[in-house]
Amino acid sequence: MSDLKGVVLAGGLGTRLWPLTKITNKHLLPIYDKPMIYYPIQLLVDAGIKDILIVTGGPHAGEFLRLLGNGNKFGLKHINYAYQEGEGGIADALRLAEHFAHGHRLAVVLGDNIFENNIKKHVDIFRKQKKGARVLLKPIDDPQRFGVATIKNNKIESIIEKPKKPKSNLAVTGFYLYDAEVFNIIRTLKPSHRGELEITDVNNAYLKRKQLEYGVLDGWWSDSGTFDSLLRVNQLVAKKTQNKVS
Ligand code: DAU
Repeated sequence: MSDLKGVVLAGGLGTRLWPLTKITNKHLLPIYDKPMIYYPIQLLVDAGIKDILIVTGGPHAGEFLRLLGNGNKFGLKHINYAYQEGEGGIADALRLAEHFAHGHRLAVVLGDNIFENNIKKHVDIFRKQKKGARVLLKPIDDPQRFGVATIKNNKIESIIEKPKKPKSNLAVTGFYLYDAEVFNIIRTLKPSHRGELEITDVNNAYLKRKQLEYGVLDGWWSDSGTFDSLLRVNQLVAKKTQNKVS
């Protein structure tokens, strides 16, 4: 089977970080010594994925080209770009990857998700998985901010998006592995109460087909879409970088 392609989803307007995002895109804000978008790109490259699409949008989309060019900094010869009109949700942004995927399977990472460790071992497991999807879960203290999974008999039983009363502490991180069926699934989705095509609905569609597997992440993981998480992830990355240097 041909190898995976990678997609970084960096659309949306980042309204929760206003006014930081008034004159730039959220994914270009700094995380310690690098722009946020560097981290998810590096995550894919470190998992052995070389063919990468960045989906972005909004008024500052052109800045990604200026910053990343052809991706030489990451050892890439070429980066693909797609433009999301509006803010229709994560699954709406992923929809734009269909031509790029061209039947290949995908590793998808949210542009504001930062992972402490390499996730290559999970990608390698998916490389051997025959079909379906795989998500990465992480036990955390404030799961209500995320998609939350419950597990029964070592299988995902349900995923609920931002539940008020989470039934477990297992957040669904923003790293997803999908087969090419994902685009047929997205075509069946309806916008949620927040007017978006939800990635949790994609994952639940795989669950219904009994084709959703999971791994549990080691090391820390954080989104960076709120003031508090942005600060926290800056501190975590600073500590990690300084430990590496000393
Ligand atoms: O961080 C992980 C969480 O991300 C998951 O646990 C949730 O299940 C998932 O829904 C998502 O939650 P958020 O509501 O926090 O996602 P947010 O709207 O902040 O979007 C995260 C990234 O997705 C954002 O940095 C860029 C991309 N995105 C988002 C939207 C709404 C797009 O590319 N286009 C979009 O229209």
